[in-house]
Amino acid sequence: MLFLAIETSCDETAAAVFREDGEVLSNVVTSQNELHERFTGVVPEIAARAHLRNLLPVVSQALEKAGVILADIDIFAVHNQPGLVGALLMGVTAAKTLALTCGKPLIAVNHIASHIYACRMAANRDIWPCVGMVVSGGHSSLFDCTDPLTMRLVGATRDDAAGEAFDKIAVLLGLGFPGGPALEKLARTGDPKAYAFPRAFIHEDRLEFSFSGLKTAVLYSLHGKNRTSSPDPIPDSVRANVAASFQAAVVDVLVSKARQALRQSGYTRLAVGGGVTANETFRRALEAMCRAEGYELWIPPMALCTDNAAMAALAIEKWKRGEFAGDDLDALPGWE
Ligand code: KG4
Ligand code: ZN
Repeated sequence: MLFLAIETSCDETAAAVFREDGEVLSNVVTSQNELHERFTGVVPEIAARAHLRNLLPVVSQALEKAGVILADIDIFAVHNQPGLVGALLMGVTAAKTLALTCGKPLIAVNHIASHIYACRMAANRDIWPCVGMVVSGGHSSLFDCTDPLTMRLVGATRDDAAGEAFDKIAVLLGLGFPGGPALEKLARTGDPKAYAFPRAFIHEDRLEFSFSGLKTAVLYSLHGKNRTSSPDPIPDSVRANVAASFQAAVVDVLVSKARQALRQSGYTRLAVGGGVTANETFRRALEAMCRAEGYELWIPPMALCTDNAAMAALAIEKWKRGEFAGDDLDALPGWE
């Protein structure tokens, strides 16, 4: 059986072809970074319009790279939740139209569950039960996962997602968008202990994140308490120290809450996904924690960490259970 999956939940237009045994034949991703850069964040309407332009070329490329044609596809799949509603709607409409015109079934997949499933793909074996962690521009969440399609939210953020905090601090530091990779690069030249930034809830027995206090502390360290911008350019050494100390605070909190979730669940496996997983300091800290505590850790390779359609291979599990979507499938911005 050949599957074609579509992803348009945020600002990446993606399509992938995979087989029922999980082998990925193609995984095409088009980024829209240059369109959103000058707004220092994703603009939903611009994202939706770009998906409309990019979708058919991306689907064609995915077919071509897999060495198949549209008529070879047996099942269509699409991430229909959660995400930006206009962006999701583009992918859902395309997938529904392809399925209807080809007379083939359609499967709807949850984007966040797919991020965890990417770990199963990388491990190439069963990873359940596990604690699932998704850390991206839209999410900082912990899940109790008992099988590929059953996950319960056990921890989330009160305000910003970790990736969002990286992007906002990057703007303060005069870096581009998305800010995560640029901030990580700057942090390499700084001292992570230069500033003792707050680590919200780190000593509290609850699985919750908050990055707003940290953002304020960074702002004050750069510009003082009574101003939001400084008349003088900030020295490079200060920017580097702030970046390194900010990154250290975020990583400390993420890793400590992952450990807390593992202890609470009694599970010994941790599966982590989402764009922030690209951060090397974060990956190394997760590895060190899991080694010290005797946990198994899965982090997918980069192409499966950031938004992509190959991770929608989770559709294979739904196909095995006979869970198909109807013609009335809708885009759901929230969580079902
Ligand atoms: O999962 P993703 O590609 O898209 C969604 O948000 O769904 O994640 C993008 C986020 C952005 O906020 C970006 O700044 C962050 O991941 N990110 C990073 C790094 N690379 C990407 N954050 C920290 N360090 C990085 N190296
Ligand atoms: Zn994502």
